[in-house]
Amino acid sequence: VAALIPENTFMAEQKNLEKSLEEDRGDEGKKTKKHKGQTWAKEGPLDPFEMLDSLSEEKQQEIQKALHLFSFGHGPPKNLQEARRHTYRFWDTQPVPKIDEKVTSHGPVESERPSVREEPFSLPQEFIWDTLNLDNQEQLRELCDLLNENYTEEDDNTFRLHYSPQFLLWALCPPGWQSQWHCGVRVKSSQKLVGFISAIPATIEVLDTELKMVEVNFLCVHKKLRSKRVAPVLIRELTRRVHQQGISQAIYSTSAVLPKPVASCRYWHRSLNPRKLIELNFSSLTRNMTLQRAIKLNRLPETTKTTGLRPMTVQDMPVVQALLREHLKAFHLSPSLTLEDVEHWLLPQDGVIDTYVVESMAKTITDMVSFYTLPSSALNHPVHKGLKAACVLYCISKSTPLLQLMEDILIICKARRFDVFSALDVMDNKAFLEPLKFRMGDVHKQYYLYNWRCPEMASDKVIKQSVVYIYIYIIKKN
Ligand SMILES: CC(C)(COP(=O)(O)OP(=O)(O)OC[C@H]1O[C@@H](n2cnc3c(N)ncnc32)[C@H](O)[C@@H]1OP(=O)(O)O)[C@@H](O)C(=O)NCCC(=O)NCCS
Repeated sequence: VAALIPENTFMAEQKNLEKSLEEDRGDEGKKTKKHKGQTWAKEGPLDPFEMLDSLSEEKQQEIQKALHLFSFGHGPPKNLQEARRHTYRFWDTQPVPKIDEKVTSHGPVESERPSVREEPFSLPQEFIWDTLNLDNQEQLRELCDLLNENYTEEDDNTFRLHYSPQFLLWALCPPGWQSQWHCGVRVKSSQKLVGFISAIPATIEVLDTELKMVEVNFLCVHKKLRSKRVAPVLIRELTRRVHQQGISQAIYSTSAVLPKPVASCRYWHRSLNPRKLIELNFSSLTRNMTLQRAIKLNRLPETTKTTGLRPMTVQDMPVVQALLREHLKAFHLSPSLTLEDVEHWLLPQDGVIDTYVVESMAKTITDMVSFYTLPSSALNHPVHKGLKAACVLYCISKSTPLLQLMEDILIICKARRFDVFSALDVMDNKAFLEPLKFRMGDVHKQYYLYNWRCPEMASDKVIKQSVVYIYIYIIKKN
């Protein structure tokens, strides 16, 4: 997707990265000089990061909270107003519609096949590219560590994502995956993994046009390397590698407002363990709400109502595929799932993905709901170690009433010790969010297409959400 960028723009980005890194080194150099002979300054590390690391966890947490609080204006725009004032030095060089462009047509932004450069984009000399081999346990573990410690946009240091190796294999190795699209950046001297970006293949129907594209995901730069223009280099390199396979379109999502969203959605959360969520500050009590009232309000029936509700098995795959195909027809932008895709994305895997189906008396599958598991660790909490979230992927109700089906899923999730159930207001989800006492979260998700023009769609026209950062995007037909 990126070899389209004029070389001089890339050179400018790279000079900038080198300059930032040089400035860092320069600062260190200066500091060393200044502190020479200052006996009071002998003790204590000079590197601010070392200094931070030497503090207690609690102190670090306080400092990060304060930084978070005062970090207004940093990072990419979070809303359209900010976006209109922002200069997109990188994104304005890309084949995407401009932020204030009124898009009315459908089709590629650039239809010419780009000439793809042979050699990777160059990194400053202290960094190297490394294509990760996720079959290698050690490399997979390194990726888990990088993401778990750095893959958060807003960091007030209270929760940390806890992706398991199995989860990442599920998210990054679907049918047709390519290892060169697991693109890492390491520090040359220490070999430490400090950056990552990935793509997975996807066949997406955009208004009856079937397009082979990629879903770009898990863009992550180590916290200590932020704001140094590493992200554009990662995006360009991945784009080059995707272009090498003859693919020119991509789909991705983020909470940042970039040129130019195709749709914007919002997360909603349903408390399953209100006491714990309140103690962890994940949810808060409003003025008229006591803990007891919150517990009562979120209470669920003890048992499920739907006859024939059970976990999906291998035998269900063809019927589930047919159910999905039929359901997805109603949307403008939808994935085309092969049987292998259905097996990979939906067949239950402990601690990763669950799919429940409803089998009728006539032995046919009439409804289905799938959700994935996303655990996180609670940092420095005296009582709770972590939080277990279930996030809905697909829900299709043809014969069971949607509210009943989803309430049953909530009951199952509660019994399986999930603390919260999350959903985006995509697909037909709006119909069950408020009635089942989901509360609106404050995180928005913007959906984007690379090198494809498409008029903006309302959030309820969008089906399926991302696997917190996995995206299968479906826009509902009017
Ligand atoms: C997203 C992330 C890699 C950006 O890195 P950074 O150090 O903040 O930004 P850089 O200085 O390297 O690059 C800035 C450029 O990247 C763009 N950018 C920032 N976040 C982006 C994102 N999520 N997707 C695409 N582009 C992004 C910025 O808009 C800017 O380009 P512009 O000049 O055209 O506006 C980094 O903040 C990160 O790892 N965050 C945590 C994980 C995350 O949120 N990933 C994205 C979710 S899918």
